Amino acid sequence: MLNKAWPQFAETWIENWPDELLSLSFPHIGIRLEEREVHALAALNGIGCHRFDRCREEDLCALEAKFDGAIRRFPQGAFIRLGSRSPKDTVHGVITRCKAFDGRQTIRLLTSGSERVAYDLRAARKANYPPWVFVRQWADISPEMEFRCFMKNRRLIGVSQYFYQTSFPVLDSPEIRNTIKTVLAEFFAVFSKLSPLDNVVFDVALFLDKAPHVKLVEINPFHPLTQACLFSWHASDFDGGFRFAQSESKPEPFMDFFPLCE
Ligand SMILES: Nc1ncnc2c1ncn2[C@@H]1O[C@H](COP(=O)(O)OP(=O)(O)OP(=O)(O)O)[C@@H](O)[C@H]1O
Ligand SMILES: [Mg+2]
Repeated sequence: MLNKAWPQFAETWIENWPDELLSLSFPHIGIRLEEREVHALAALNGIGCHRFDRCREEDLCALEAKFDGAIRRFPQGAFIRLGSRSPKDTVHGVITRCKAFDGRQTIRLLTSGSERVAYDLRAARKANYPPWVFVRQWADISPEMEFRCFMKNRRLIGVSQYFYQTSFPVLDSPEIRNTIKTVLAEFFAVFSKLSPLDNVVFDVALFLDKAPHVKLVEINPFHPLTQACLFSWHASDFDGGFRFAQSESKPEPFMDFFPLCE
């Protein structure tokens, strides 16, 4: 699978997950990129494109056809990302939430000036590592039901709201909090045995309707480069607790910055 070096953090990338771990996450199709496809995407993405060959129309068309084939399996749409991370750092990524319905939209997501895509394709190329694109079944995840969990030595040392800057009134309910803790504890008992690493930061989505269940969204390096949400790498305050944003702390009054009606 790997030709030369193993790029830093590659153990957390989806293409390297063991099958049992994949079964905890969303169905998807992985596409291993050919070298010429890496060049085509990186060149079209723009950032740092001088380090890549120019984008060849025929390579892009062939890739679009591959993405079309994969995405047909997901008629409700698919979440698009590299094995390493998603292109959510572009305006287009934010607006679409990285959701695509065909190959053309998939390519657009991966080539809209994403610094993440540029960095990760460059790092892969330097290591002679073939990067992957994943077309993942779209899931309607409620933002208040996504959590970032911190595992050290296969022990859960903290859980935080993923969208840590927003307080969700539903999370004030002690019953809901208890349900979240119970469902997550059950999931962790399984996850902690299957994780390829002893130390990892993993994100989960909870679905508490009819049949409550948890889906693994992804795993990230246990490293300060991974956002600590309501914890802090600096203060190393992982105390095993669940942290929810305080409803007293008012969300940023962002409209103040855009006085549209003046
Ligand atoms: N299959 C999916 N369907 C719908 N939304 C998804 C799906 N997978 C992920 N998301 C949403 O997109 C966000 C980013 O996805 P993901 O964690 O896979 O990528 P990432 O770029 O590594 O993120 P991060 O910066 O949090 O590490 C998730 O937190 C989740 O809200
Ligand atoms: Mg990530």
